[in-house]
Amino acid sequence: MKETAETPWHERDDFWEAIEPFIFTSKIIDAASQDVEHAIAMMKLEPGARICDLCCGIGRHSLELARRGFQVTSVDRTEHYLERAKANAKAEGLDIEFVHQDARNFRRPDSFDAVINLFTSFGYFKNPNENITVLENINASLKPGGKVLMELMGKEVLARIFQERDWRQEDNIILLEERKVGKNWEFIEARWILFKDGQKYEQTFSTKLYSAIELIDMFSRSGFRAMETFGGLDGSPYDQKANRLTILGCK
Ligand SMILES: C[S@@+](CC[C@H](N)C(=O)[O-])C[C@H]1O[C@@H](n2cnc3c(N)ncnc32)[C@H](O)[C@@H]1O
Repeated sequence: MKETAETPWHERDDFWEAIEPFIFTSKIIDAASQDVEHAIAMMKLEPGARICDLCCGIGRHSLELARRGFQVTSVDRTEHYLERAKANAKAEGLDIEFVHQDARNFRRPDSFDAVINLFTSFGYFKNPNENITVLENINASLKPGGKVLMELMGKEVLARIFQERDWRQEDNIILLEERKVGKNWEFIEARWILFKDGQKYEQTFSTKLYSAIELIDMFSRSGFRAMETFGGLDGSPYDQKANRLTILGCK
């Protein structure tokens, strides 16, 4: 299915349901514990701090933070993912606040010690002002001195590892992926074709591409200070060997 002007890909529940087996594999879910370990160290979180997991998905980081005694608010626009997160939290007796809301509208002034936005959950909106709005909302929602931690695919990394075509298999589902870099390297456009139970599902989607310096500039324009970039949540340098772009900022 082609992206339509009426419903952008990121607002399509059928898209998020179709890609669920590929973005939440058991390996990715298991990695959340170490991600959280790193995030706590990087943001120097005090015990019991209040944290917002913005675009939380199935809540893999939210659950891990709650297990460690943090007060967690988890926000996502995909109800199906939130339901899965809620069921897992309930099964473990974890007290997490789940909010079904669009990141462009979620703003809770001076409420959090930290906001995390992980696994390429930023840069979805074609209109650059809307991506800035998300950053401004994060800034407003942090207490003074609060921290933001974001992790995504950096433009420099993508340029190094770029592959035009790729395929993957998870259980009985096959995914074919085709990628194109947009004009001026502003975005990457991907075409995903999924085959499951004899059915084909196709979707094109694009996300903005940011270099480290572009992201720092956007954070600065949204009110953040003291930005630092890393090549991963482990704090490795964002250099020619980096695999991910991670940015830490302060309100
Ligand atoms: C790649 S997933 C990452 C999920 C989670 N951060 C993780 O690391 O597992 C991106 C998430 O962003 C959510 N999302 C997409 N657009 C959103 C929006 N406008 N507002 C809030 N959440 C959104 C999706 O529903 C999805 O759960």
